[in-house]
Amino acid sequence: MAQNCDWLLTNVRLATMVDNGVPYGEIESGAVALHDGLIVYAGPEAGMQEITADQQRDCHGQWATPGLVDCHTHLVYGGDRAREFEMRLQGRSYEDISRSGGGIASTVKHTREASEELLFEQASRRAKCLLEEGVTTLEIKSGYGLNLEQELKMLRVARRLGEELPVTVRTTFLGAHALPPEFAATDGDPRDAYIQLVCEQMIPAVADAGLADAVDVFCEGIGFSPAQCERVFKAAQAVGLPVKGHVEQLSDLKGARLAASYGALSVDHIEYLAEDDIPVIAKAGSVAVLLPGAFYFLNEQQKPPIAALREHNVPMAVATDLNHGTSPIASLLLAMNQAAVLFGLTPEEALRGTTRNGALALGLQNKGLLATGFDADIALWDIAHPSELTYAVNMNRPSKVWQGGQCVYSS
Ligand code: NIG
Ligand code: FE
Repeated sequence: MAQNCDWLLTNVRLATMVDNGVPYGEIESGAVALHDGLIVYAGPEAGMQEITADQQRDCHGQWATPGLVDCHTHLVYGGDRAREFEMRLQGRSYEDISRSGGGIASTVKHTREASEELLFEQASRRAKCLLEEGVTTLEIKSGYGLNLEQELKMLRVARRLGEELPVTVRTTFLGAHALPPEFAATDGDPRDAYIQLVCEQMIPAVADAGLADAVDVFCEGIGFSPAQCERVFKAAQAVGLPVKGHVEQLSDLKGARLAASYGALSVDHIEYLAEDDIPVIAKAGSVAVLLPGAFYFLNEQQKPPIAALREHNVPMAVATDLNHGTSPIASLLLAMNQAAVLFGLTPEEALRGTTRNGALALGLQNKGLLATGFDADIALWDIAHPSELTYAVNMNRPSKVWQGGQCVYSS
């Protein structure tokens, strides 16, 4: 008896992204069947058993890719930082602006002042820009609240985006992002005092509320020291949350090595990563998340060690880092182009970085491939070849998108 499914797509070229030696894991004359939110068949149309479907589409040779995954964003925030952009163009550095009370601290002020509703409205506009490009999974970090109440507010907004928009949202608690202004005058090391609050009160409360899927840190001279980050990793471990790290973005503090020793899902930025730390990351299975938008926007010169990451088979993801200080870029396809032009990724690596490896950076084993049993997140593109997604800027939009098995967009 024929199996029945919700959707059957035929006459479709599949960029399955399965790493089987065939570029893009291509299947030329393919078919995909979706049922109950899962892919129940993805393979050659000729090899498919008899399947009936509630809805069937001839895709006329268009390409299907896994729905895109933006695995690193800070898209919930208040205020804007255009004035700082002007200051930087007049010669001041990101670190200098940050040390004089601008940077993250200015966003903290505006995020705290904003109502939950306003943050939601503004963030949902940014998220929709990503969704229009075929993003079906999105990570959102807190880190502009810097006290329990305000961090919870940000995380609630992030969760609500996942409830009200057709996208899977993973939330990350980034309490250790910057020193909150009210701690500046604390006796002793104010950063140690704040980290104590993060570890003893904020992480347990965030975990209790079920509002975070992971814990992140900013390990940097203008952020927190490796010893302080390690305390955060230990506290995350104690409540069973996986860790990630903003590491080696502006200097080499050995944050990646530290994060890897806590089994980090990902080590992010890594422009200053030393080559001899790479085997440690490879062994831990952490994903290297490349954020070329921040590199571009800060006009950085130091590039991540791509060749060595490749050599050690470290999976590389690509994300927008969408935030208004270092990467006001609401386009994952542009981030793929930047990863190719600025860092030398191949278009195939860039697409793997926003599909399978983006999913792995979030611990989502069931996403990022077109394969039987995987989540039915799919983007359909009217293109001649998947390299076009990385090659062209602002030219490609999906013709259809399925998220969790539902057709959520159709042109
Ligand atoms: O990923 N590096 C730290 N955090 C962000 C920047 C945040 C900001 O400047 O507001 C980043 O680049
Ligand atoms: Fe970031």
